[in-house]
Amino acid sequence: MIERIDSFKNDMKAWRHDLHRHPELAFEERRTADFVAERLESFGIATDRGLAGTGVVGTLKAGTSKRVLGLRADMDALPILEANKFSHRSVHDGRMHACGHDGHTAMLLGAAKYLAETKPFDGTVHFIFQPAEESAGGARIMIEQGLFERFPVDAVYGLHNMPGLPVGQFAMRVGPIMASFDSFDIVVKGTGTHAALPQLGSDQIVAAAAIVGALQTVVSRVLDPTEPALVSITRIKGGDSYNVIPDEVLLSGCARCFSDDIQDKMKKAIVRIAKEVAAANGATAEVRFIEHYPPTVSTKEGVAASSRAAADVVGAHNVNIEAKALLTAEDFGYMLKERPGSYVLMGNGPGDGGCLLHNPRYDFNDEALTIGAKYWARLVERELGT
Ligand code: NI
Repeated sequence: MIERIDSFKNDMKAWRHDLHRHPELAFEERRTADFVAERLESFGIATDRGLAGTGVVGTLKAGTSKRVLGLRADMDALPILEANKFSHRSVHDGRMHACGHDGHTAMLLGAAKYLAETKPFDGTVHFIFQPAEESAGGARIMIEQGLFERFPVDAVYGLHNMPGLPVGQFAMRVGPIMASFDSFDIVVKGTGTHAALPQLGSDQIVAAAAIVGALQTVVSRVLDPTEPALVSITRIKGGDSYNVIPDEVLLSGCARCFSDDIQDKMKKAIVRIAKEVAAANGATAEVRFIEHYPPTVSTKEGVAASSRAAADVVGAHNVNIEAKALLTAEDFGYMLKERPGSYVLMGNGPGDGGCLLHNPRYDFNDEALTIGAKYWARLVERELGT
């Protein structure tokens, strides 16, 4: 298997560079979906198109077993102007594969090619290529449109490259590996007035400032101190002169944590504190709270399966099964809410020189392509072993 997948390295590199040159944003991955479906069909894998618009599911069966695995890659790019100068630079100014989803797609295609050619397993594999991982929740929409009813799986697996982790290393953990992500807007409203006559109105600036401070008590006072969570205010907008107190101030921010229960408690506390602190300052607050992603939670069996497969490829000493959870978010959390499985991080090499996720100088590391493809292939060989 190792040698055979090594022999695809140039194919995977060419696919990855082609995808990198032609990045497409959430739900617009039409060229990418065509590219994926054409490759899968050329390997003899049946494809189904259209879940969440541009989603592609390839299905490969071997033998008679009823066991089914789902392997997922994301296909979307980001609205970032690429700063790289290499030949596979994005041809679309303002769109870029700055999160390595081009690499994720190429690796799963490489594994699909190998598995279709050799069928070293007994059961069914669904290759799930999803749109819109970046903040638009393509995974959720695929699920709402019947992903797991039409393609039932016993377990589902996801993978993301990780700059800062050396190539040839994997990191994973039982339980949450990535956080939930919710955003909110708080509009503080009242009666603006001349700055020299504060007694004639309410001060929305003072109210907003008090809300910013008070929201820091959500984590420190409302939640169990042993539960990690985060509230950040990321935008304050209000007023346009030196001597007028505005009618309105907008505050925006995000909340992140590692369990549904804490996610719910944070939401309630943010709404309550915003409204009550505004009221204490003679203003009102309207809160718009948007729940984006649940936490991404791997099961014990899922991590056991992933760590065995990764260890076969890179050696057990290169597989960290007690990785630190990250406060970033991932919409694969929706899939792991529906089915058991795991989400693993795979080394992309040094993050210096701007090679960090969502950075205009980022690039997926081609040296990791065969490692990821071997991981997928080995996971199938082990979990659907004959
Ligand atoms: Ni990503």
